[in-house]
Amino acid sequence: MINANLQTPYFLIDEAKLINNLDKAKTLKEISGAKLVLALKCFSTFGTFDTIKPYLDGTTSSGPYEVRLGYEEFGGETHAYSVGYSKADIEAVKGMSDKIIFNSLSQLETHFESCKNDASLGLRINPERSMAGQDLANPTRPYSRLGVKQALLDLSVLDKVQGFMFHMNCENRDVDAFIAILDHISTTFADYLKKLKWLSLGGGIFFTYPDYPIEKLALALKAFSEKHQLQLYLEPGEAIITRTTDLVVSVIDIVENDKKTAIVDSATEAHRLDTLIYNEPASIKEASNNGRYPYVIGSCSCLAGDQFCETQFDSPLEIGQKLHLMDSAGYTMVKLNWFNGLKMPSIYYKRVNGEIELLNEFGYQDFKATLGRG
Ligand SMILES: Cc1ncc(COP(=O)(O)O)c(C=O)c1O
Repeated sequence: MINANLQTPYFLIDEAKLINNLDKAKTLKEISGAKLVLALKCFSTFGTFDTIKPYLDGTTSSGPYEVRLGYEEFGGETHAYSVGYSKADIEAVKGMSDKIIFNSLSQLETHFESCKNDASLGLRINPERSMAGQDLANPTRPYSRLGVKQALLDLSVLDKVQGFMFHMNCENRDVDAFIAILDHISTTFADYLKKLKWLSLGGGIFFTYPDYPIEKLALALKAFSEKHQLQLYLEPGEAIITRTTDLVVSVIDIVENDKKTAIVDSATEAHRLDTLIYNEPASIKEASNNGRYPYVIGSCSCLAGDQFCETQFDSPLEIGQKLHLMDSAGYTMVKLNWFNGLKMPSIYYKRVNGEIELLNEFGYQDFKATLGRG
């Protein structure tokens, strides 16, 4: 199948680029001794799991269906975490989970008896230190509901849990900043750590970023796990799939109201939500820093402020032309929605041998099914 013939909009995941990231994950694991579980909240496109499985140890989740997906489609270790589990949720996940991590002391209390024999139990802790660029994504922001603060803990919790989970980073590229948080955890929680069996340090560490000092990170993790005699886990999402995927769109129209806007057959609100909620403009492969033709890349939704970015090109855009919105794997396919009844992007996987596999495509019946039976 030839790239040029694919109908937009579509995601194109590149296996060779994925393997490049996974090789870095392998180095990190080998030097540090940490286990890595894929954060399905970031990326759940299970048609790629055959590529990922040999490199990672399992999956972690944020809700009951992700637990099931990880258990059925990935295997290895299945970690279950949710901000809030109902009794029915726990019944559904406990037979599939190696670890169940609770977000609060009350959740642990509520569910302890029903799952203590099914999985190794853990508790999410709020370390009150973080490295997250945006308040919206900062787990230790004021009044955060994510995890238990130390002031509310006492050592009796160790009668119920064997592990703690800390998640406090978001796209953290600064290894020294991460090590400072690790040192803080090492001292502040020392009395707990010596009695735990495992500790997850969450996701948000950008170890696949170009020139990231992986070895420095790995040695810090190794020293920590040796000091506290713990099996460490990381829960990478974005780091595994970063820069692997384009969202490919077509220019449908060009309008001009003081600025030229190219309207494309996709919308941030429906297909690339984080562009909108974090106000982080997309980058376009065809754009050129010194281009003389500036455009707003506008979406097809009805939301007035829905645009992918403003950028410039070496030559005027043409209707029908394809544009590649780069770095579109993380928190996109897991957040797709049918707002405005727009066409949902198909998902393609470009294998290392050059073949392009169709992983999924969607039609009107899928749209209608989300709205009820009529
Ligand atoms: C508990 C937990 N673990 C792991 C992750 C994955 O983070 P990232 O995709 O930034 O690596 C998240 C993201 O929000 C999270 O909340």
